Amino acid sequence: MKKILLGITGGIAAYKSAELLRCLQRSGAEVRVVMSEAAARFVTPLTFQALSGYPVCTDLFTADSAAGMDHIELSRWADIVLIAPATADFMAKLATGQANDVVTTVCLARSVPLFIAPAMNQWMWSNIATQDNCTVLRQRGVTILDPTEGVQACGDVGFGRMLEPQDIMQRLVENDSMRHALAGVRTLVTAGPTREPIDPVRYISNRSSGKMGYELAAALHDYGAEVVLVSGPVALETPLGVSRIQVETAQDMHQAVQQNLKECDIFIAAAAVSDYRPRDIASNKIKKSKKERIIPLVLNPDVLAEGVRTASSIFSVGFAAETEHMAKYARLKLEKKQLDMIAANDVSIEGQGFDSNQNALTVIWQGGEKTFPLMAKRDLAKQLVALIIEKYNEKSRSKNS
Ligand code: PMT
Repeated sequence: MKKILLGITGGIAAYKSAELLRCLQRSGAEVRVVMSEAAARFVTPLTFQALSGYPVCTDLFTADSAAGMDHIELSRWADIVLIAPATADFMAKLATGQANDVVTTVCLARSVPLFIAPAMNQWMWSNIATQDNCTVLRQRGVTILDPTEGVQACGDVGFGRMLEPQDIMQRLVENDSMRHALAGVRTLVTAGPTREPIDPVRYISNRSSGKMGYELAAALHDYGAEVVLVSGPVALETPLGVSRIQVETAQDMHQAVQQNLKECDIFIAAAAVSDYRPRDIASNKIKKSKKERIIPLVLNPDVLAEGVRTASSIFSVGFAAETEHMAKYARLKLEKKQLDMIAANDVSIEGQGFDSNQNALTVIWQGGEKTFPLMAKRDLAKQLVALIIEKYNEKSRSKNS
């Protein structure tokens, strides 16, 4: 680890930032410090100046600006920015793009990874406003080092305590090695539903929200991969650093995948592609007339199976959305589509699978199986990608030996 810009905002946990600075230095990092005015009321900038060996920036308008190490220079100098503690107020400002003090300004001006370690009262942490800010920040690629449970300065007991300095350090080290695990690896993910038009205003689709696929794309990017995301119509922001190709129908998705897959090393198909489409698309809105109407359907291309045929050396991961005999049907798809791995989810269970923030998976490959219990799709995506990396590396090694 190299150059770390440590930002401190105004909470009682600021006293732990001195120990955190020491931890970071012991790991070989060079650390510089910026503090909000409120932070300077809890711990003096002099403490951090003495520990870091550099002046501490607390003000946007100091003499140091003229000396060439102003807030913009500092954010360019850093390899990563770490804000610890991060208050609820700081997070709200960051989520709304404010830059009215030195800490928010370096965050907005940076182009390097940003980590924040929140510390606050348990009710402030669980407040919907704070949690919404967390969601926005995560979507923008900020890594939130979630607080732990324990006794708080105010006497409450609950979630909101900043992680201990050693634990923050550990998370940064993990993240650093994680960011290189897929360096130079090109990946393609499909996500979301497809829409198969019936007439100019109606279509056949399904309840896929795209969340599973988008979290996978974000996790692949966090592991250092180049990511192309071929997405059906969803209401989600493109994860930071991911390039998205927007499609509507299964045929569009098929075409986009065929055009981009040859360049790729890993293909993950999380999209819920319509197996069928209406044979004919009415050019005008169909009028209500008959009591019964039959819409003939024709088979769509199998985006995943045809992708694997086109790019035969790719590491391929399919999904299986099942409502019965999950493992059996998933194994059949693994073999029929010639996949390296399949992630099966039981979409008949309330609160997981389609359009939910959580999911559970049984992942199957030739000679192995692993079950991931119900958890947030974000965490699940990280764990699934870690497993994919393991199996992808095994396959690459056996090809080269
Ligand atoms: O989007 P979310 O709301 O987060 O929900 C996530 C999810 C439930 C959609 C996801 O976890 C999931 O299961 N995705 C696959 C859904 C599906 O279509 O499964 P399937 O069993 O019908 O298809 C098997 C595999 O073939 C899938 O990888 C699918 O992408 C692919 N397929 C299917 C048909 C087709 N014409 N082309 C395909 O590529």
